[in-house]
This record gives sequence, structure tokens and C-alpha cells, in this order.
Amino acid sequence: AADVVNPQPDLKLVVISNRIAPFDPNKPQTGGLAAALEPVVQRSGGVWVGSSENRGDGTQVPLPLVETGAGFVARLDLPAADHAGYYRGFSNSTLWPALHSLPDRMSVSEDDYECYQRTNSYIAGAVYDVRDWDVFWVHDYHLLPLGAQLNELGIDRPTGFFLHTPWPEPDMVDRVPNHRELMKSTLKYDLAGFQTNRDLNNYSAYLRTHFGLETKDGVVTTERGQTRLKKFPIGIDPKQFADYLAADLSPAEQGKVSSLLQNFEGAKFAIGVDRLDYTKGIDKRVEGFNQLLRTEPRSISLLQIAPSSRADVEQYQKYKDDVKSAINRVNAKHGTDRWSPIHYRNDSFSQAALARLYRAAHVGVVTPLRDGMNLVAKEYVAAQDPKDPGVLVLSKFAGAAEDFNENEALLVDPNHPEEIAAAISKASHMPLEERVTRWRSMMDKIESYTIHDWAADYVSELDKSRVTVPADQFH
Ligand code: G6P
Repeated sequence: AADVVNPQPDLKLVVISNRIAPFDPNKPQTGGLAAALEPVVQRSGGVWVGSSENRGDGTQVPLPLVETGAGFVARLDLPAADHAGYYRGFSNSTLWPALHSLPDRMSVSEDDYECYQRTNSYIAGAVYDVRDWDVFWVHDYHLLPLGAQLNELGIDRPTGFFLHTPWPEPDMVDRVPNHRELMKSTLKYDLAGFQTNRDLNNYSAYLRTHFGLETKDGVVTTERGQTRLKKFPIGIDPKQFADYLAADLSPAEQGKVSSLLQNFEGAKFAIGVDRLDYTKGIDKRVEGFNQLLRTEPRSISLLQIAPSSRADVEQYQKYKDDVKSAINRVNAKHGTDRWSPIHYRNDSFSQAALARLYRAAHVGVVTPLRDGMNLVAKEYVAAQDPKDPGVLVLSKFAGAAEDFNENEALLVDPNHPEEIAAAISKASHMPLEERVTRWRSMMDKIESYTIHDWAADYVSELDKSRVTVPADQFH
């Protein structure tokens, strides 16, 4: 094991996730998790462990700590032989659709499960080097069994898990191979965090129906000890968003933004920004536009930004084609020589460029079929002009809809294009006074619970295990 010296002994936070932030302000970010955690780790002086772009032969090497200015980052070359089964397979072809309650998109393979377990053990082996740091915070569905594996290696520090995605009803989890073993391993965490009450209740329902375990006052008691379940709705950094709007863009980004906005000069447009993922409901949104333009021709355009994501997963390739042809149909039907209903981009934009596009858009359309939280909803709100804000159209199945009610956002069922059409129409005609009232109320919520509150809350809750459980109890 490597000799590790932590320059900030007061915190000693170890964050572990599959995807790691680029730690480069000029690189575009697309994933919600990476965008959310980068400032947290930078501020804490901790270490963020995740996957590198390279694959290794599976030999365990010392944790490759690299200083980032404030804290450390450690990028692991995950074992090549298991990577496809771990990432493309079990994480993104089995768990991801199950967690989003889309069983028709699932594929299952016993081999993938083995790759997933072995990759988690590899990561646990690497993290062992920092076993004497204080708290271990594991993120997302790629790493469900990691806490149990850290435990097996004898790491006795508080270990917490946070799920960025939804947690589905028990019958969806039943379709995942080895779900009982997997769920048992999650009970090795001291703290399990969820985005919403819905997710927390679904997780508890599984424990009750399959293991006969009751959750009492947010605590599940097993032979090992206690796992606390708690809701931590993730937020954004609204101040950083204000800074983005004030700062200059790079010439290249400025060029991209200006040429896009030229399309809408003097006309209304709505914006959608999503990874190109079938959970995001982009196809239904496009159909919503189709219906709207039938009754209100040329009333509003859509700027849909959808950077490619997980392109080697079959369901994503199919979805990419489906979205493209849906957009082509709508543009052919409703477009003219001089006007296009839908402007579609598959490249990524920096947060600063997106902030400008959000601000210019009259409507933000966030209509995922299911989503853990959806930070685009919050970012769209944070980027608005307080004197003349746009309107948020929000899926009632996004976690953000537990934060924003129907007096704030226009809530829709994302499966029903006619509801999306009606909401965009209502949004685009909404009087200024109502727009301001709705926006102010959402913005207050965003400001009162930022990403920094979220992280501080989680870590202090996790730290309670350190205070209350004597370390030697585990030896
Ligand atoms: C979601 C997941 C994250 C993931 C991100 C991007 O937000 O919750 O864990 O990092 O999507 O997906 P990717 O597969 O590119 O990491």
C-alpha cells in the first residue's frame, strides 16, 4: 500500500464514483454527477476516486493520487477484461433501465454481474490505501456493493452511499439478476441517501417484502448494525451560475452560442438539454412539439441539445436513430425555407455557454420519463433574468418535481405529448407577473439548499456514525 499523507486532516473525505469530473473548467461536462461533485471535492481537500479513460490488466496498483489544487484525484485503470460487463452490461443495460422502471429496455446476463462484482472488488482494493481516512462516500448504481467490499477488507470507517438515479418499486428490482445478494450488500452502508421520498420509500418497500425488515424512523436494523435512510435532494450552485453569466466565453464557445441564437432572433424558443438517453423522453417531447405546431403554426421553436451518451449500448443507438427521425419528420412537416421548428445538436457545451442559452430561452422543457433529480431544471431557473424570467415545463416523474410544485413549474406527464404541447403553449403565453411569481418561488428554493448544503448535510450525517460507533467495535 502507498504511503498517503493528507494535507487537511480535519476532513479526510474519500469520494468514490465511476465517472470523475475532468477538473478542467474548459472541458464541457454532460453528466449530472460529475458536474455536481467537482466543487464539493475541490472545497473539501479530500480525494475523489474514479475510473480513468484507460483500462488495466487487473493488477492491483497503489492508489494513483494526484493533487488538483485543493484535494486529490485518483483515476483507476479498471480491469479491461471486466469493463464491458461492468459498465456497458450490468450498470447500463441491466441496472439503469430497471432503476428507471423501463423493463423493456433491460438486458440481463449472469456474466455481466460477475464483471460488475469483480470491478467493484478491484476498486475496493485500490481504496484500501486510504483506509485510515475518515469517511467514505460512494456514489451511484455502478458501485452498489462497494461498501460491503470495503467492509470485507476490514475498513471500519463510516461508509455511505448516495443514489443519483431513482429507486424503483420492488417488482422492477426483482428483474435484476442476484438482486437479493446485491440488496443485502447495500445494508452494509451506514447511510443510504436518496433524491426523493419516493425513492426512499421504494427502497424500504423492497427490504420489507423480501427481507421482512422494517424501516423505523429512517433506520433499518440488521445483525451488522444500522443503516440510516435519508433524503438529500441534490441542488446546484446558483452563485456559480451567476458568475457564468457574467464571465466571458472563450471565442470558440461564444461563436457557437451566437450562431445558435441567431436562429431565434425576435422569435420565441424553448430549450431542452439532455444526455441522449431514452429515459429523457426526447422523442415524446418532439411529438409534443409536433402537436403544438399543428394548432399554433410557427409559434415557437425548440433548441434540443443532446450530447451522445453510452453510444456502445445498443438501446442508446436505437434511441439516437428514433429521435433523429422524429425530428426530421417534424421539421419536414412544419418547417419552411426560412424557419425550422427544431434545432438539434449532439455536441456538448460548457456550463457557461449553456447558462446563456438557458437565459435566452422562453421555456425550459425538462420532460424525462423518470429522473433522479434533473439538475437542468434547476440550472434553467438559476439562469433566468429576474425581471423577465422564462417558464419551466417539468416532468412530474423527475425528482425535481418533489421540490417544485404546480404553482411554480408547469408539471406534465412526460408520456403524454398533448400535455407537453399544452404546457409549452401556456408557458409561451404566460403574463410577466405570473412568470415572475413562479420563478421567484423556485429560485428561493434553489438558493436555500445549494449543492454545498447538500454535500455538507450528507457528510455530517455520515460523520454521525463515526461519533456514535466506537471504531474497535468492528475489529
Ligand atoms: C447519470 C448518472 C451518473 C453518470 C451520468 C453520465 O447522471 O447518475 O452516474 O455519470 O449519468 O453517464 P456516464 O455513463 O457517461 O457516466
